[in-house]
Amino acid sequence: MGFRSKFENAEKALTFNDVLLLPGWTTLEPSEADIKIRVTTNVELNIPLIASPMDTVTEAEMAIALAREGSMGVLHRNCSAKEEVDMARKVKRAEAVIIRDVITVSPDMTVADLLKMMEEHNIKGFPVVEGDGELQGIVTWRDVRLAESSLKIRDVMTEEVVTGSEDTEIDEAMQILHEHRIEKLPIVDKNNRVQGLITMKDITLKGTFQEAVRDEDGRLLCAAAISPFDLPRAKALDKYVDVMVLDVSHFHNKNCFDAAKLVLKEVSADVIVGNIGTYEAAEDIITQLDGVAGLRVGIGSGSICSTSVVTRAGAPTLFATSNVADAVKAYGADIPIIADGGIRNPGDVAVAMAVGASAAMMGNVFAGCRESPGRLVAMEGRYYKEYYGMGSAKARQKRFVQDRYSKPSKSINEGVEGWVPFKGPAKDILDEFTGGLKAAMGYMGAATIPQVWEKAKLALVTENGAKEAAPHDIFRPGPSRTI
Ligand code: XMP
Repeated sequence: MGFRSKFENAEKALTFNDVLLLPGWTTLEPSEADIKIRVTTNVELNIPLIASPMDTVTEAEMAIALAREGSMGVLHRNCSAKEEVDMARKVKRAEAVIIRDVITVSPDMTVADLLKMMEEHNIKGFPVVEGDGELQGIVTWRDVRLAESSLKIRDVMTEEVVTGSEDTEIDEAMQILHEHRIEKLPIVDKNNRVQGLITMKDITLKGTFQEAVRDEDGRLLCAAAISPFDLPRAKALDKYVDVMVLDVSHFHNKNCFDAAKLVLKEVSADVIVGNIGTYEAAEDIITQLDGVAGLRVGIGSGSICSTSVVTRAGAPTLFATSNVADAVKAYGADIPIIADGGIRNPGDVAVAMAVGASAAMMGNVFAGCRESPGRLVAMEGRYYKEYYGMGSAKARQKRFVQDRYSKPSKSINEGVEGWVPFKGPAKDILDEFTGGLKAAMGYMGAATIPQVWEKAKLALVTENGAKEAAPHDIFRPGPSRTI
């Protein structure tokens, strides 16, 4: 085959702005569209939108806010393993009917140490235990706020503790909490060892978020990213997370496959692998890696990516999703696809679903939210939040200092640093995107996401068509909101 034929055989790497969804016959009102879908083999979301594992996008606050609304954020890995585990614990502890991973204190601790712990964990009361978890008392903010800081906890704690057992029902627990005017009810076994904790706050919160996605114990679902080469971190996180994302820019790589095999063997969480961009990558995963629960798809389309500029390598998200979806279909594999990178609008999510995605992952869109960790700054009268690529100089510098499993295998940066307009609470973004996605499903006459896969028809647009399809010939002020 001559070199010139490479042009003739070149594939058309289309992406979101190159296509439109053709409206079809419909009997469906957008509000009736059902967007619940499995985003991994075992995890279903009520809203199929996922926040990227980036240190300007997803830490515990974002993960909690999204899980409460029925979607999900993937905790980033640009920190020490301990910090990432702490974030996952925070998500799991955010609202559980029974907290299983109870933080306890020793009676020999000082008031000063306790105050520090309260601040660190943002918790106002702890069971006091000795030996192998035997309950000695309970200590709360009220016991210590005016106490001498050198006093021991045993001198200030309440010794008479009202407790419950594993058989205590929630209604009963609520009644006990109310009767005794207390906030926390330790659950103990017959040897008085602490097995869990029920708090008034968690009971009250439970009814608040009806659409929240939870695990079997009523805790919010949690996802976290790891390097495939960091098995110790994977094991440490496995206790707390439902989904683990093996997070590399080019997963179709022998070393990544070998490392992934080990992780897949060792962890019980659902494992998503990526990023990939081709039919062959999906085919190799399906045929060589057992137990993969999700595919993260798209290379080089992210708003902060410079991969394709620097290396000219890439697989735009829409093109990549269609290729991977074809492989999944050809092999009859039951592996959901997450389209990742370059998604700006709800219509982009609908288009990604038209070619087989179950969910969309977004960094830029969520980075501007109140719950993202990025710094908020005012510039020329508008508010912005910091957003940078995980391959940017800034992120790489942070990673190499903290994570010994992330030694630089490349000598160049593949991401840029910048700012995105502040957009307010993540819930507003979810409302906007679910509204738009359901409206798109209305145009297609698709009542569910699997129906989108079946029914959606695409039209290619010209450059002029793309311009005409967006608002034009009108002056509009910028999108940034005030706080
Ligand atoms: P958006 O468009 O939502 O994309 O901002 C987020 C996705 O971009 C990927 N990502 C990167 N890709 N260099 C890259 O080539 C980077 O520095 C980088 N950081 C993030 C990632 O897949 C994310 O979900």
